[in-house]
Amino acid sequence: MESENILDIKDLNVSFNLPEGTVKVLNGINFTIRKDEVFGIVGESGCGKSVTASSILQLLPKNAQRSGEILLHTENGIINITSLTPTDEKMRQIRGNDIAMIFQEPAASFSPVYTIGEQMIENIILHKTLSEKEAKEIALEMIEKVKIPDPKKIINSYPFELSGGMLQRCMIALALSCNPMILIADEPTTALDVTIQAQILYLMKELQKEFESSIIFITHDLGVIAQMADRVAVMYLGKIVEEGTVYDIFNNPLHPYTRALMTSIPKVGIKKTRLEAIKGIVPDPFNKPKGCSFHNRCPNYIAGVCDTKEPKNITFSKDHTVACFLYGGKNNE
Ligand SMILES: Nc1ncnc2c1ncn2[C@@H]1O[C@H](COP(=O)(O)OP(=O)(O)O)[C@@H](O)[C@H]1O
Ligand code: SF4
Ligand SMILES: [Mg+2]
Repeated sequence: MESENILDIKDLNVSFNLPEGTVKVLNGINFTIRKDEVFGIVGESGCGKSVTASSILQLLPKNAQRSGEILLHTENGIINITSLTPTDEKMRQIRGNDIAMIFQEPAASFSPVYTIGEQMIENIILHKTLSEKEAKEIALEMIEKVKIPDPKKIINSYPFELSGGMLQRCMIALALSCNPMILIADEPTTALDVTIQAQILYLMKELQKEFESSIIFITHDLGVIAQMADRVAVMYLGKIVEEGTVYDIFNNPLHPYTRALMTSIPKVGIKKTRLEAIKGIVPDPFNKPKGCSFHNRCPNYIAGVCDTKEPKNITFSKDHTVACFLYGGKNNE
């Protein structure tokens, strides 16, 4: 049975107006989030992962221009997020209630001047018609769920009194406290050490199953994707160049960029190689190469083809799509 779609991103384009001119950083992004899945978005720094996340929640800065559709499927029908203004009451309700976000830096979610409990209770009351006492019960329950010992003590603590890992758990508790349909996690464990990272990822996966929510999991780390995601989109310079199930992406990576990312995953016992293992540097969005934007780094580059036209997205197999001239034959002419 096909699973239910809960969010459709259609032809999302984002540009920034800068003193030097307009720079386009998202180029026709399309993807769908299904119920109860972890959808991973992976790609090197600067490829547009965070801008994609900010677009969904209408958190883009003022100098951004956006086009395309973001359709949220709710119990009361489909809401086109792009038709709402960022300060619209409906948008405020969606943020936190339907779609919540956790960031790399807990400081982005917590103010230093209020206790964890005060902030969680305020967030719950903002979205649910509950008394303060009821909201506190939920806050305590959520802190327990993220496996922090002594929730009663934590609820009265200020953010600076907690370690990075603890705060990250509190941020997950805060995000899940209104039982959102979708959780967007933008590099949520990048700042943590490896052991804590593994614990937090395990916890997130457990809670995702328990809450039957969907997660958009953003990372530059394919190793983390392998652990977390059901389906994966690989981004390069503001485009999704390949999408598939985690099995497709790891067992049959098609796009030369995905293949290059694979070889840059650090292996146990071998000195950590970085993504720079991929030949060349990422061009900046102001100087995007003509044709396929990966062509200046691609080992399979076809002169006269890859540098003249943009490859179209083709369906390789069910759920597996790729945008590269090596695939698709006539469909990609
Ligand atoms: N506020 C902004 N103004 C101008 N350019 C921006 C802004 N935010 C992001 N960008 C640019 O958009 C591109 C995508 O950035 P981002 O989504 O943050 O990348 P990622 O999260 O994949 O590392 C980058 O080239 C970045 O420099
Ligand atoms: S379209 Fe050409 S340059 Fe781009 S990834 Fe495919 S083979 Fe490489
Ligand atoms: Mg980012």
